[in-house]
Formats: sequence, structure tokens, C-alpha cells
Amino acid sequence: MSSYGTLAAYERMRTRDPVDIPMIINGQEVFTGNVVELTPPHDHKNVYARIHVADGTGLVKEAVSGALAARAEWESMSSEARSGIFLRAARLLSTKYRHEVCAATMLGLSKNLFQAEIDAACETIDFWRFNAFYANEIYSHQPAAHSPGVWNRLEHRPLEGFVAAISPFNFIAIGSNLASAPAQMGNVVVLKPALETGLASSLMMRILQEAGLPPGVIQYVPVLDPRGDFTQDALHHPALGGLHFTGSTNVFAQLQRDIAAGIGGNPDTDPAPGDSTGRQPYHSFPRLVGETGGKNYLFAHESALASEEGRRDVAAQLLRGAFEFNGQKCSATSRAYVPASQWPALRRVLEEEVARIKVTGPSDPQSFVTAVINRPAFDRLASAIEGAKADPEMDLVAGGECDDRVGYFVGPTVLAVDLASLGGGASAAGHMAALERAHAKHTVRSELFGPVITVVVYDDQHWQAVARAAADASPYALTGAIFARDRRVLEELASTLRHAQGNLYLNDKSTGAVVGQQPFGGSRRSGTNDKAGHALNLQRWVSTMAIKENL
Ligand code: SER
Repeated sequence: MSSYGTLAAYERMRTRDPVDIPMIINGQEVFTGNVVELTPPHDHKNVYARIHVADGTGLVKEAVSGALAARAEWESMSSEARSGIFLRAARLLSTKYRHEVCAATMLGLSKNLFQAEIDAACETIDFWRFNAFYANEIYSHQPAAHSPGVWNRLEHRPLEGFVAAISPFNFIAIGSNLASAPAQMGNVVVLKPALETGLASSLMMRILQEAGLPPGVIQYVPVLDPRGDFTQDALHHPALGGLHFTGSTNVFAQLQRDIAAGIGGNPDTDPAPGDSTGRQPYHSFPRLVGETGGKNYLFAHESALASEEGRRDVAAQLLRGAFEFNGQKCSATSRAYVPASQWPALRRVLEEEVARIKVTGPSDPQSFVTAVINRPAFDRLASAIEGAKADPEMDLVAGGECDDRVGYFVGPTVLAVDLASLGGGASAAGHMAALERAHAKHTVRSELFGPVITVVVYDDQHWQAVARAAADASPYALTGAIFARDRRVLEELASTLRHAQGNLYLNDKSTGAVVGQQPFGGSRRSGTNDKAGHALNLQRWVSTMAIKENL
């Protein structure tokens, strides 16, 4: 599909008068008059839309009741009939709406043309198509074994109640899947979209409606303060059957704690409703599915870097993993481990390549790094970079410039910390003590969610111990990338590092999981690891009854 159509749509959206983005409840657009102005991250003085939010309107309550009212009919449709709707939506997105959705993604999130296409078009289409087929498999799954005289059956049903979906700003496809995966399985969903995605995510709603999604099945409920009406009227609702979440570890932890407080006591002895706030206990245990943060690594062994070709390959994957979509991916590479023998040569390649990266708005055909999402992100990243520059033990390899005059531009930044200069001499103990100090540095330890990567330079001879410590240094366990051309080393590293990851990449970057090919999700503090883009996720949205009949 030609990019001209998307660029033309982008220009139209950028220059027209600001549009109003409504809530969508029971298939109807609702303009609450309570609006939040949206500006492109790369041009923060230009208001392009006003999104109408539910805060203080009582409409979250209405959205939940409407969803519950739509449930019986939606549940009673066959899985194939529901699949037909999502397959039709995929068709509409890939044709009629493609340019508009990609342009809205460029404008709202500052994704360049290529990244907008991968996210809003390709990945969303993949989710809708794959889920449609996986869903039918799950719904038709029956036990393989029957004793003589017995007939066993499984009856799969959606969860009781409704599912709340909370989407992140960084992927239109993720938001689409958070709502559509439970809906595909027959659930009704109340979606709280990230406001920044409003233009593109509301278009997704229009596509689903045009494809035949019945009113009320997915309620589109933007809110400004998630702790307000959405928490009271949706998350605390006794009919909450599940939560499908992508966002920060901290917010998911708070949600888990908050939901846990609404679980009733012993139903035999303590059926009393609610707590002192009048909160009613949930009818069932809500299923909590969350994909959260990461502090993802790239570990390079000497064998991967011994040739110029190898160095170029590792450098390219490191820079793509760290800087595509400005590092605003939970899977982004944000710490790398490079052997000292190869560091000077790899460093030259990185310096050269970073100097060539263009930092511009997303419509420039050569843009690679654009602007980060908003003011808090800019301030957080600028301060992390300044902190690293002021640290005499850290080295600024490339980048390090930030400019927020027109947009929130954070230049792609490579930092380095050399274990030798942290006192990590040849002894294993000394080296590991130095590594521990390196791991305590802010840019090596914390999820930054921006175009900043820190290279830890280690002594070649300690590669095994460094790899083990790298895997265990972080409470997160989302993605990791291992580069080695020596097969035995690759196998050893993979087995050392694999216990801690949701997605492990061998000789590839840590980002870019493809639906149906590399199901995506992390463990430990990176989430519940219920793989998006696979039947494993869809299974979370059904409750199965096993029936035994004596013949
Ligand atoms: N699924 C994306 C990736 O793999 C991140 O959310 O990069």
C-alpha cells in the first residue's frame, strides 16, 4: 500500500480544525463536554483533537450496565460468527481505513510512517485474524479420552460479568487486542484507552462497529483520572470478571492490590456485603492478565563481534532494539553487555551510526527517532541523561541532547560503564563487585521507556558469570537478546539466561514479537505472562464446564 495516502491523510489531520473524539457507549457517540486537548508529541503547541472524557459524568456506570445488558446476545453467538466480525474488521482496516488509522498514529504518538504501519495496521490486523482462528480452536476443544459407557464434553463460556481493559499509549495494536481478545471469546468489555491514542483507537471502534460488532460489546470510555469514576464504577463493580492490562508494573501492582481488597471473605461464614465504603465483593475471582515493564538486555559474546560484519549486525540490532519508536516499548533494549576486547571497535560503529540517526517529526521519510510521548516523559529522560553525564564513572558514547522547544525530542543516547574503571580487576570476585555497582546505576537499573541505552563493558574471561548476574540483576523478566556465533556458547548462554525471560531472542534484537509467531509477554515483575498473540491469552477469557454423562 502506497505511503502517499497515509502522508496525505496525516497532513489533513494535522492542519484541519481540532476534531472532537467522543466516548462510545452502547454504539452511540457521547460528547460529554468534559474534554482533554491532544497535541502531537513532536509539535506540542498544535491542538489537533479534544477527547471527551467520562470523569464526573456518571457515564462509566452506564457503560458497565450497557455492556452487561449486551452480554447475553453476544455470548449466545457462535464463536465463528464472532470471528466473522473481527475478520471483516481486519479487512476494513487493511483497505478502507488503513491510511487514516496510520496517519492518526503518526500524529498522536509521533510514530514514523513505517512504525505506524507496523503497529496500527499490520499488528492489529494480525491480532484480529489470529484471534479469530485461535478462538474457534478453543471453543471446539473437547476431551480426547472417554471411558466405556461415558461421554465427556467440555462447554466453554465467556467469563461471568464483564472484562475491563486498560490500554497503554505506545501501541495501537495492544489497545485493540486488550479489548478485542476477551470480546472475541464472547465477553463484553469496558475499555479505558490511553488518551494519547484517542484519534486512532476511536477509529478502531468505528471499524469494529462497521464490521458488525453489536452495540455495548466494547464500550469506549476515555477517562482523565483513572482513580476516579473508572475505579469506582468499573473496577470495583461486583460483576468485574477480568482485567486485561498493559502498562507500568507499578500501576498493575496497585490494581492487583485494589482488586484484592474487593474479594469477599468466606462465603459460608461471612456473606456480609461490602466493606466500610459500601464496596460489594466480586461475584467471582476476577482474572488479572497484565503485561507490564521491562529492563531488557542484550548480551554479546566475543564470538558475535569478532568480524566487522558481526559488529555491524550487533550494532544494528542494538540500535533498533533501543531506539525504534524512541525506546517506548516494554520490550526495548535498555542495557547491553559487551566484552572489553571488542568494545573499542563496536563503539566506533555505534558512534558512526548514532550520528546518522535523524531526530525529526514523524512525516519526514528519513525520521527514525521522533519525539517522546509527553512532558513528564521528556523531563524524566532528560534528567536521567543529565544524571549520567554528571557521573564520572559513566561515559557518554553518543547523543545526549534533548530539545523541547517544538516537541519532546530526546536524542538517541548511548552511555557506557566499564567494569575495569569501576575497580573490576581480573579477579572474578572483583569483577562481580564492579558489576553490582554498575547494576545500581539509575540508567542500568530502572525502566526508562525512552531512547537511552547503557553498555556495560565486561572482561571477556568472565562472560559466564556476567551473563548469569545480568539475568538476575533485574526484577523484570520481559525480553532478552543474546548474540554469539559460537554454537556451544549460544546454547550455554540461552540456558543461563532463559529462566528469567518471557521472550528470548538469539542473534536478534529484543523487540518486534510477531503475533502468531512469537507470542509475547514477560514473567516476574513484567507481568502474568499470558502470551498476547496466542491461544494462551484467549484461554484466560473463558470459563469451562466439564460435563460427564453415563450412557
Ligand atoms: N510486542 C512488542 C514487541 O515485541 C512490544 O510491546 O516489541
